[in-house]
Amino acid sequence: MKTTELLEAALAARENAYAPYSGFKVGAALVSSASKTVYSGCNVENASYGATICAERGAVMKAMSEEGHLSVKALLVVSDAAQAAVPCAVCLQVLSEFCSAETPVYVANLSGIVQTYTFGELLPVPFNSIPE
Ligand code: THU
Repeated sequence: MKTTELLEAALAARENAYAPYSGFKVGAALVSSASKTVYSGCNVENASYGATICAERGAVMKAMSEEGHLSVKALLVVSDAAQAAVPCAVCLQVLSEFCSAETPVYVANLSGIVQTYTFGELLPVPFNSIPE
C-alpha cells in the first residue's frame, strides 16, 4: 500500500471539511487490513463546539459501517499546519479499538508526509478496561 494513495485520499476528503468555526481543515485516510480499502474522513464542526467530529473518527465510522469490523493497517492525517497535526486524544482513544501499537500513523501537511509515528508512540497506554 502506497502512502501517496493515502495522502491523495486524505487531501480529497480535507476539501470537504466543514470548519466554519476554527477554519482548520483536516483530512484523514486509513486502510483496512482485511479489504485493503481506503476510507477517508474530514472534520465536521458544530456550533456546539464539543459536538465536532474530527476527520479521523469520520474515517473510522465510515470503515466500520461499511465492513462491520476493522483493523487499521495504516492511517494518515493531513492539515495545513506547518509541523502537521497528530490525532487528538479522543481520536486516539477511538482508534485504540482498531489499531495495534505498531500501526503506522503518518502526519502530513499540504506538501506531504512530515512525520511517521507508530500508534503506540502516540497512545502508549490506551484505556481498555471493560467493567464486569
Ligand atoms: N481536528 C481533527 O479533525 N483532527 C485532529 O486530529 C485534530 C483536530 C479538527 C477538529 C476541529 O474541527 C479542528 O480540527 C480544530 O480543532
